[in-house]
Amino acid sequence: MGGPRKVTVAIDGPAGSGKSTVSKEVARRLGYAYVDTGAMYRSVALLGMRAGLAPTDREGFIARAAAARMEFRVIGAGQRFFVNGEDLTDAVRDPEVGALSSPVSAILEVRKHLTAAQQRMAAGGGVVMEGRDIGTVVCPHAEVKVFVTATPPERARRRYLEVKAKGEDVTQEQVLAEISERDQRDSSREVAPLRRAEDAVELITDGLSIDEVVARITEMVREAEAR
Ligand code: DC
Repeated sequence: MGGPRKVTVAIDGPAGSGKSTVSKEVARRLGYAYVDTGAMYRSVALLGMRAGLAPTDREGFIARAAAARMEFRVIGAGQRFFVNGEDLTDAVRDPEVGALSSPVSAILEVRKHLTAAQQRMAAGGGVVMEGRDIGTVVCPHAEVKVFVTATPPERARRRYLEVKAKGEDVTQEQVLAEISERDQRDSSREVAPLRRAEDAVELITDGLSIDEVVARITEMVREAEAR
């Protein structure tokens, strides 16, 4: 007898919603693979930056997206992100890379290459995939779809605490302005904009602990596995 069947879990939401922390923990509890699609977009930006591409060089970014071999490898208790055999887990977190990844992720052909790679990674189920268009475009047939969000002031507050803890000098107003700008760009772009899939469950995380959000999603997955 096999165990319960493994399903696909699509988690989308804006920056600062807490979806990364939550997705990672849900995957850990379920023994599922975790795919951070934001890291994949960030890596295309990073490869372009290293090659000295101008931010407007669409063809340059498309060529890098087409040639990149991306893999998430489980190492010990954690997971690392490799591109063309190089561990870029930490390098893609650079704020400059993050800023460039937003326009890079708006290039249609870049999205086509990464969407195809993500669909291959999700093919067997047993995966928690996190991003902006997972429930709408990448895995429209995912058994569990969640749209994790929080009000902009709450996301700004969390982000501010995070940045402050790293010793950077910013104000909460600056963080709120940055978040609003990124939301605007990610939701208004023509290709695969950030939006909730009609059949996704929306979780507004203001006032909820990480543990509460994780518990709710894990329960949804258990129910889907038993169906
Ligand atoms: O979640 P993140 O900050 O690591 O994402 C980096 C950028 O990539 C962000 O501007 C949104 C974009 N992105 C996307 O367009 N589609 C995804 N599935 C994931 C990220």
